[in-house]
Amino acid sequence: MSVIAHGIKTLGVLGAGQMGTGIALVSALRAKVPVLIHDRSRDQVSKGLSLVDKLLAKDVTKGRIQQSEANEARERLRIVDGIEAMRDVDMVIEAVSENLDLKRTLFKSFAETLRPDAILATNTSSISITKIAAAVIPNGQTAASEEGRASSGRVVGLHFFNPVPVMKLVELIAGVQTHKDTLGRARAFAEACRKEVAVSNDVPGFVSNALLMPFINEAIMCLEKGTASRDDIDKTFRLGMNHPMGPLQLADFIGLDTCLSIQQTLYTGTSDSKYRPSILLERMVDAQWLGRKSGKGFYENN
Ligand code: CAA
Repeated sequence: MSVIAHGIKTLGVLGAGQMGTGIALVSALRAKVPVLIHDRSRDQVSKGLSLVDKLLAKDVTKGRIQQSEANEARERLRIVDGIEAMRDVDMVIEAVSENLDLKRTLFKSFAETLRPDAILATNTSSISITKIAAAVIPNGQTAASEEGRASSGRVVGLHFFNPVPVMKLVELIAGVQTHKDTLGRARAFAEACRKEVAVSNDVPGFVSNALLMPFINEAIMCLEKGTASRDDIDKTFRLGMNHPMGPLQLADFIGLDTCLSIQQTLYTGTSDSKYRPSILLERMVDAQWLGRKSGKGFYENN
């Protein structure tokens, strides 16, 4: 357990997809902090909040929490219209799609809008924290100036796993610029959400996806080459290695677009041909067969 206090009195979460919603839920329920959630799609936020309602109701039914705790957690969640409404938060966690340009734009807005001492965390699963941190240098400053270093020093990687309420781990990643205090407070916050923390260096994919995605990619190549059927590939890992899901089912669960963009980050970030994305994965994403979220991937409606 960390001895450093996280000092987060209000949290902002940007992105209300499956990751952002899960992060908002564990923050409100376990760390007991008020959470401001923003997503450019209202529809996405409503979907996220109805999932939160369902999960809280199940926790009550199963006797894991009291109804009053569920109500309090729900009251801590507030939808807001934009980053401007988050100006007083102590930390923001960005959980939008895996796109460096989008993240750079958002982090620049965070730096311009949020308090100068707010922690700027990203839930990215593979993109360089150092590159994201380089986007928050105030106008007219250089990366090496005192203001430049102070601003980028509060950027940190806080990588949750899906489903967030169930998976016990958070990966903590420092960029080259990240301050020790930022790291300590981010770790303390993850622990307040009752997560174990594993630290990774800022390499493409960090530890988790530098190992997981090549495994999933190889499984897709096995299918492509006809080495085994979909069901036999997955069964091999479920029953032979006790994985909760086989690699193809897991790819559908994560989202094939997310798998592809992580694999592309590994490939371009290392220039190593062993990370070349499978052509079948590329074609499935071209077809918008994205796995569970689109109702079709390697499986249908799984
Ligand atoms: N949100 C919240 N809770 C969920 C959930 C979701 N989306 N999906 C399942 N759960 C909960 C269920 O409600 C259930 O809770 P109870 O015990 O209270 O009933 C519990 O998880 C178990 O679910 P099920 O009984 O329905 O099914 P299961 O035993 O097969 O478990 C699973 C489901 C937890 C998803 C399990 O299959 C699993 O652990 N799969 C592997 C998941 C994994 O590897 N995740 C990491 C992906 S990589 C990533 O996230 C990072 C990245 O960068 C890509």
